[in-house]
Amino acid sequence: MREAGSARCEPANVLVTGGAGFIGVNFIRYLLGRNDFDGRVINYDALTYAGNPASLADIEREWGGTRYFFVRGDVADREAVDRVLGEHAIDTIVHFAAESHVDRSIVGPEAFVRTNVTGTFTLLEAARAAWQAGGGFREGVRFHHISTDEVYGSLGETGYFTEETPYDPRSPYSASKAASDHLVMAYWHTYGLPVTLSNCSNNYGPYHFPEKLIPLMILNMLEGLELPVYGDGRNVRDWLYVEDHAAAVWDIVRGGWPGQKYNVGGGNEWENLRLVERLAEIVAERTGMSAEAIRAKITFVRDRPGHDRRYAIDCSKIGRELGWRPSVTFEEGLARTVDWYLGNGDWVREVRSGEYRRWIERNYGTREQ
Ligand code: NAD
Ligand code: DAU
Repeated sequence: MREAGSARCEPANVLVTGGAGFIGVNFIRYLLGRNDFDGRVINYDALTYAGNPASLADIEREWGGTRYFFVRGDVADREAVDRVLGEHAIDTIVHFAAESHVDRSIVGPEAFVRTNVTGTFTLLEAARAAWQAGGGFREGVRFHHISTDEVYGSLGETGYFTEETPYDPRSPYSASKAASDHLVMAYWHTYGLPVTLSNCSNNYGPYHFPEKLIPLMILNMLEGLELPVYGDGRNVRDWLYVEDHAAAVWDIVRGGWPGQKYNVGGGNEWENLRLVERLAEIVAERTGMSAEAIRAKITFVRDRPGHDRRYAIDCSKIGRELGWRPSVTFEEGLARTVDWYLGNGDWVREVRSGEYRRWIERNYGTREQ
């Protein structure tokens, strides 16, 4: 059994992979807004369909070239990863980059294996090479891997996923994340690379790409479109406000024990149909639309193949060891999220129309997807 080493870590140069995606953007905003961090953030992102640099335009204006750097690159490209680790003297990697949408993994699993499995492997290998010192690793380096509760499979009506729940992934997405988790833990057990890992439940909040349930429903409600609910709408998810997730990740990076994994969740289970109905009320309250007219657009559609029935997470370990707890109630978080989409029409228009892709091509060139 490996010794856990020191839990305290004071990052200076943080590589955030996937920092142009939903959670990465929120994490970078959170980190650069903190008083206890005066280091630099290097956002390493391939800018796939899910990456949008416009989500960080204000951060770029305020901190670009001093405390914030954007590097377009693929996590599966070893040369490019080596370069960014060396040029920016990276001591901490916070690895969000992934193909993240279950539905896409069902129609096109290959990209999930490439980015989530090969990409994570490539980063681990590059970190192992860059951080070696003597027979081990430099002091103060850390590799934090962001994973999902979906690796644990599907629950019945009762029970919770704990850190000891055996892995039982059921979609190509969750299988690829499970494989990446196993690689991360293997690098701890085999080489002693100082890793931490978190398995989180469903996030929601600002900058969420509108292919996922909550932003898709909000925008469809505002545009009077149908609200597609899969199957009988009784699948259950545990929802966590994205800033609470960002805080959990930062707590783990700085205080988590190397070689440990932490579950992160909102303690906030909702059946999909009930959630969509509640969202209809909130959108109605904030726009003057009729909640009844919005609800009338709910349409039951063909179920997702292999649709996991229920996720629920026991996150008492991170509370006990690091003092983290979710702080934003679902009512508050949903209201903030609806207000954010209402107040960010330009972002929404660009994402919905694909205009942001043309902006990326003009500024960064095209990339094979
Ligand atoms: P997202 O799809 O919004 O963003 C993913 C980002 O990764 C994008 O910016 C994309 O351009 C980038 N990316 C994709 N392939 C890449 C590659 N090969 N090289 C470099 N960058 C690449 O995803 P998200 O919702 O922000 O999720 C972030 C992480 O959190 C993922 O690892 C996901 O599995 C995990 N997670 C997400 C949730 C959730 O509810 N969204 C919950 C638990 C865990
Ligand atoms: O649990 C964590 C996971 O949460 C993350 O690992 C994933 O990256 C993230 O995408 C999310 O996965 P889900 O599949 O749970 O999220 P999604 O928003 O796609 O769907 C949430 C639920 O809503 C799920 O039961 C399917 C259902 N759904 C989804 C969409 C897009 C619908 O009923 N209608 C829809 O149109």
